[in-house]
Amino acid sequence: MFKYSIGTLISKEEISEKVKELALQIDNDYKGEEILLIGLLRGSVLFLSDLVRELKTEVTLDFMIVSSYGNELESSRDVKIKKDLEEDIRGKNVIVVEDIIDTGHTLKKVLEMLKTREPKSIKICTLLDKPERREVEIEVDYTGFKIPDEFVVGYGIDFAQKHRNLSYIGIVKKEEE
Ligand code: IMP
Ligand code: MG
Repeated sequence: MFKYSIGTLISKEEISEKVKELALQIDNDYKGEEILLIGLLRGSVLFLSDLVRELKTEVTLDFMIVSSYGNELESSRDVKIKKDLEEDIRGKNVIVVEDIIDTGHTLKKVLEMLKTREPKSIKICTLLDKPERREVEIEVDYTGFKIPDEFVVGYGIDFAQKHRNLSYIGIVKKEEE
C-alpha cells in the first residue's frame, strides 16, 4: 500500500444542495406514481439515505450487491451479482441508485439483468460520473456531479473499504515515500 493524502473535491454543503436538486427532479418526473429505489451496496448507502429523505414521492427500497474493485484502483470489468434483490420489480418504476459511474460496466450489466424482469420503467441516478472513463455506453437519467478522472473517496465511497464515513467527496493523492 502506498502513502496517500485526501484533498476535498466536493464539500458537504455542495452535496446536500445537489441531493435536494435531484430529489426535486425525481419528484417532478414521477408525480402520483410510486418508485422502487435500488441501492447498489455498499457505496450508494449514504447518498440513498439522504436522497430518500428529500423525496416526496412514495418510495420503497431494495438493495443489490455487485462485485466491486476489491482493493484495487482499477475496475475488474467482470461484473458479478453477489446479492440479488428481495423484491419482484415487475411492473414497477425502478431507479437504480449508484455512488459513481466509471467505465460503465457495472451499471450496464445490472440494467441488462433488471430489464429482463420487466419493470414498468427503469432509470439510473448517480451521485458522481467520470465520463472520460466510459468504456460502454449507458444512459444516465439523474447525475449529481461530473468529475475528472481521479480516484475519489467519501460519502459512502471507499478506498480499500476505508473513508466511506467522510461527509465530503475527496480525491486520493499518492504521496512520495
Ligand atoms: P464501473 O463499472 O467501472 O462504472 O465502476 C463503478 C464502480 O466502481 C462504482 O460503483 C464504485 O464502486 C467503483 N469506483 C469507480 N470509481 C471509483 C473511485 O474513484 N473511487 C472509489 N470507487 C470507485
Ligand atoms: Mg459501487
